[in-house]
Amino acid sequence: MVVDSNSVASMDDERSASPGPDDHLDLRPYRAGDEEALMRVCLETGAAGEDATDVFTLEPSLLSEVYLLPYLALESGLATVVAGRDGPPVGYVLGALDTAAFEAAAEERWWPSLRERFPRGAVADDSPEAVLVRRIHEPPSTPPEVLRDHPSHLHVDLLPAAQGRGLGRRLLERLFDQLAAAGSTGVHLGVSAANVRAIGFYRAMGFVEWPSDGSGSLTLVRRLQERA
Ligand SMILES: CC(C)(COP(=O)(O)OP(=O)(O)OC[C@H]1O[C@@H](n2cnc3c(N)ncnc32)[C@H](O)[C@@H]1OP(=O)(O)O)[C@@H](O)C(=O)NCCC(=O)NCCS
Repeated sequence: MVVDSNSVASMDDERSASPGPDDHLDLRPYRAGDEEALMRVCLETGAAGEDATDVFTLEPSLLSEVYLLPYLALESGLATVVAGRDGPPVGYVLGALDTAAFEAAAEERWWPSLRERFPRGAVADDSPEAVLVRRIHEPPSTPPEVLRDHPSHLHVDLLPAAQGRGLGRRLLERLFDQLAAAGSTGVHLGVSAANVRAIGFYRAMGFVEWPSDGSGSLTLVRRLQERA
């Protein structure tokens, strides 16, 4: 599934449609049709947890093309959203059970068409999008030493009005249960060192820091169960 970048244009109109404290937000599995709302969540939490709408102005869909849509296309069964009774999703958790297999599947089925749509040099070198275009062409492989005990990985994002209400915990616990039931021994994730709030949340959720390479991104890991 590929979502046209034009579909992001309508996101601006919806930015005010945020949940209030009395909305009955709950978890449900991702379903087709959620993409546009989830892309909005991805963009509005994409600058170290803050709104990235004014950062990725050239290609607002690119962040989702890299960090959201491949999970919906390749591992939709591990995608859970948060939504009100009749409203659009306001948050999500995405997972990959076997990161090495996920990276291989993306190499075969996700990156090639994006490479055609966004060739090297498609955006100016000094634009924020340039980092994403480089990532499309040279997606990093997770080090085997991380994968040994933590083969799964995840992404979680909630719009501001849905934060601080226990929904992040519920999303992660649901994913942990799914991953453990499927045999995973552990999970890892990457987080910007600038995202102090999320790092506090992940620590509260039992994650510990993996020795860092000194870049601006931290790897955090959490065991789910002992090896069988
Ligand atoms: C980070 C995020 C997913 C957390 O979800 P949340 O719903 O706000 O967190 P919860 O309310 O479920 O908190 C769960 C627990 O973490 C704790 N916690 C949350 N933030 C914390 C912090 N900064 N420091 C310490 N503990 C924290 C809570 O106190 C709570 O503890 P408890 O369950 O033992 O009472 C959410 O705030 C978010 O989407 N932020 C913007 C996007 C983002 O940064 N995503 C991560 C990118 S890597």
